[in-house]
Amino acid sequence: MKKLFFAIYLLSLTFAQSQNGKLSPRFYKDKRDVFREKMPENSVAVLFSAPIRNRANDVDYVFHQDPNFFYLTGWHQPHSVLMIYKNPQVDELGSFNEKIYILERDEYKELWNGKRYSLEAVKKLGFERVNTRKYFMDDISNLSTYDKVLIFGFNNDIRNQEDDPFDLFDLKAALKKAINFPSSFNRELYTVYQHILEADDDSIESIREEVKAHVQLDSTLIEDEIIKQFLLYSNNDFFTEVKTKTAFALRNYNFDLVTLPQIMKDMREIKSDDEIELIKKAVAISVIGQKEVMKAMHADMTEREIQGIHEFVYRKYGAADEGYPSIVGAGENSCVLHYTENEKKELDNQLVLMDLGAEFYGFTADVTRTIPSNGIYSQAQRELYEIVYEAQEKAIQASQVGISFDSLYKLSYEIVSSGLMRLGIIDDISDARIYYPHGLSHHIGLDVHDPGNYVDLAADMVITIEPGIYIPAGSSCDPKWWNIGIRIEDDILITENGPVNLSEGAPRKWQEVELLMKQESILDAFILPKIETLIK
Ligand code: GLY
Ligand code: MN
Ligand code: MN
Repeated sequence: MKKLFFAIYLLSLTFAQSQNGKLSPRFYKDKRDVFREKMPENSVAVLFSAPIRNRANDVDYVFHQDPNFFYLTGWHQPHSVLMIYKNPQVDELGSFNEKIYILERDEYKELWNGKRYSLEAVKKLGFERVNTRKYFMDDISNLSTYDKVLIFGFNNDIRNQEDDPFDLFDLKAALKKAINFPSSFNRELYTVYQHILEADDDSIESIREEVKAHVQLDSTLIEDEIIKQFLLYSNNDFFTEVKTKTAFALRNYNFDLVTLPQIMKDMREIKSDDEIELIKKAVAISVIGQKEVMKAMHADMTEREIQGIHEFVYRKYGAADEGYPSIVGAGENSCVLHYTENEKKELDNQLVLMDLGAEFYGFTADVTRTIPSNGIYSQAQRELYEIVYEAQEKAIQASQVGISFDSLYKLSYEIVSSGLMRLGIIDDISDARIYYPHGLSHHIGLDVHDPGNYVDLAADMVITIEPGIYIPAGSSCDPKWWNIGIRIEDDILITENGPVNLSEGAPRKWQEVELLMKQESILDAFILPKIETLIK
């Protein structure tokens, strides 16, 4: 009976956590189990937490956990390492197949920077083995005994804190040493070699195309004898020889930079119910931000003020952060795709492009609305807006299971290009690329541009649909179109029953935007004293 009560108690805890929006430790444990199933035999994966970045002098940027690391651990602190083993390992306590290394307790540092956790507390989060980070250094001395050590690679852009012998820099340096990572490593060459090793009779032609694409990006690769031979000769006997040479060239390495990102793409592109719930919340919060701004917007507002209203709404709903730097650009700034200065003070009658997303327990929305600062779209603004709207609407409707990302993009491009032709802005369909220079869609999740394979849509993906038209001043078209930039972006859940627009609550049709902008805002009454009156 006691056991039953305890089980109910545990269940209620898990339930309470998901009601709060936080995921339970079980979620992360399940992800690690799925990950392990996908690992090659006798391999180990090593994942690091994100680095701490310095802002200036002795002030750092707010720490943001690495999304892959967070996805598999839920762990939110720096200088940590996760190891997942394909096969059970044995130590003095018995068998285990994963281990996390964390910061040691330190009363003084905790006084300044906040709580660290005991090993026991972290064990309760479902990790089989927990140790402090310095033991990582000892535990990796046997990495040569694994067939593969799965890693992401090293960016070499981390600061070494001189007074800390076990910071992320040192942990990564230790791993490099343990796996004989070459000091001058050619990642492109290594990736191409991996492709060659994967090739078999069925896949050789497509892999040749892939290798050619790498060579186009980095022409020095063609000087490599193995690559040259792989591309030039199709004879089968010869192919076996090329493969043997490739394996020989990689014989001293047991690290693998390809499998880990691939597993993460395969896992993260399909969202589980818990993830979808959190994304829905992040999107709902972002929608409220857009709607409140539509009501509050006046032509005498500044870009910064508009950004502030969105972000205030996010905080009001408990979102800790934005998923990416907020983009609020009016007029010429609306034509800069990732404009983040947000410093323009005169909005006049211009369109304001607002691309923002709340981050809720790590998951981010990505929603864009483009609205007239004075509440009424001019004729030129409206004509362009209607093209973007149509491209978006058709692409959303077409977002069905099985359709490819590529064909969705082509559909949107066709609508944008024929619209621009109709308005006399371009004479040639291919010129639409000048004014619609980005892709249509990406996954969202823990990253705003979430990893995925970007082939065909499948149920439980969450993607953006975001066509745009941007006509900077000086473009070769009638000046009446200049300085108009429009993007409409929604977050779409793909289901077997068709697309679900999670951000549809924020008006998109120009008539609906204008209607909402006529409404009063509670912020109209929020009048602060002029700063000049306060300064002596
Ligand atoms: N907010 C960045 C993007 O739309 O992809
Ligand atoms: Mn986007
Ligand atoms: Mn966006």
